[in-house]
Parts: sequence; C-alpha cells; structure tokens
Amino acid sequence: MDKRGTFVVFEGGEGSGKDTHIERLKSLYPEVVYTREPGGTKIGEHIRELLLAKESTDMDVRSELLLFLAARAQLMAEVIAPALTSGKNVVSNRFGLSTIAYQIYGRERQEYLPFLRDVSTFIVEKYIPDVYLLLDVTPQVGIKRAGRRAEGMNRFDVEQLTFHKRVHDGYKKHIGELGRHFIINADQPLEAVWQEVKKAVASVL
Ligand code: TYD
Repeated sequence: MDKRGTFVVFEGGEGSGKDTHIERLKSLYPEVVYTREPGGTKIGEHIRELLLAKESTDMDVRSELLLFLAARAQLMAEVIAPALTSGKNVVSNRFGLSTIAYQIYGRERQEYLPFLRDVSTFIVEKYIPDVYLLLDVTPQVGIKRAGRRAEGMNRFDVEQLTFHKRVHDGYKKHIGELGRHFIINADQPLEAVWQEVKKAVASVL
C-alpha cells in the first residue's frame, strides 16, 4: 500500500494570520488537500454557521463542544481520513488543539478534558496530526488585527480579552503534548512570519 499522507495542522488565536499563510501555501503546494474547522464538509459548514453566529448567545458549553466534535467527525470521515489513506497530504486550518484552547481553557471547563480526549480518540482514530504549527500571537495584538477584518466578527471574536488570554494559555500549555510542532512568533510582521511558515512546512511536506 502507498505511504500515508502527512497531516499538518495550523493553530492560533484570533488574528494570528492562519488564513493568509494557508492561502499562500495553496500556490506553493497545490496538490495538498486544504480544509478548515469547523467546516470543510457540507454538514460541517451548517454546524459552523450555528457555532459562529453571534445570535447563538444561549448555546450551552456542552452543546458547543459536541457541535465542534460532530463537525470534526464528519470532516474526518469525509475528507481527512480518505485523503491521508490515498497518500495525499492534508493541511487543516485548526483541529483538536483549538478545542482544548477554546472550550477547555476559554470556557473554563477543565473537568471536560478527559471526556474530550476520549471522544477525540474515537473520532480521529489513527489519523492523528503529524505536525502542528502554532502561530503564536499575543491576544492584544491578535484582537486588534481581527477587528480590522472586513467580514465582521464571529461569536468567539467578540469575547473579552480575558477569554482570549485563557485560550492563549491553553495553546501554550498543551502544544508540547502533541508530538512534532513549531511555535512561530506571529506578533512579527507578516513577511517574517511567512518565511518561518514556509520553512517549517518545507521541512515536513
Ligand atoms: P474562524 O472564522 O475560522 O476563525 P479564525 O479565522 O480565527 O480561525 O472561526 C472559527 C472559530 O471557532 C474561532 O473563533 C475558534 C473557534 N473554535 C473553537 O472554539 N473550538 C474548536 O474546536 C475550533 C475548531 C474552533
């Protein structure tokens, strides 16, 4: 059987520049399968709308967590597992570390972590990411950038700075558990970050 593809995940808080860098990678590596979370499938994009709508103000944290996981299960089954199995490389804009950072740390639900780990194993099976790239942005810097976005702010963008600081904390605490990873200082100017992203990706793809 052919070799399994490589699974690369980009992570980082609001305004860390993930979208911009992934867009640039698309011209360098057009053969890669690109996806995003939540979303990346028809069902997942419906779930995304529910999750990100500013109107979803009364969403229980458990519902929120389960919806992110449901979208991930669909994405794994429909896109990521088949691509990796057929030897294609996959780049995902966010994955499991986002759930730890946002739902466990941002939402302050430390007690959900064992459950999250169990369900993640159930969903991801053997297709665990090979490498994580964390675009590490200081929350104050990231929020300022995200505020300038033309498409407006989602339900997470509008959270208080304290929420984003907890998310940042969660990222830093857990990135080390995930095997191979790069932490890139995303407070730097875009071009400097891009050089580091390019180098890191070239070393794994
Ligand atoms: P998106 O507009 O894609 O944000 P960004 O450009 O910052 O990646 O919205 C995704 C939002 O969903 C983002 O605010 C982080 C949040 N999120 C979670 O809270 N938990 C998760 O597991 C995932 C994948 C995303």
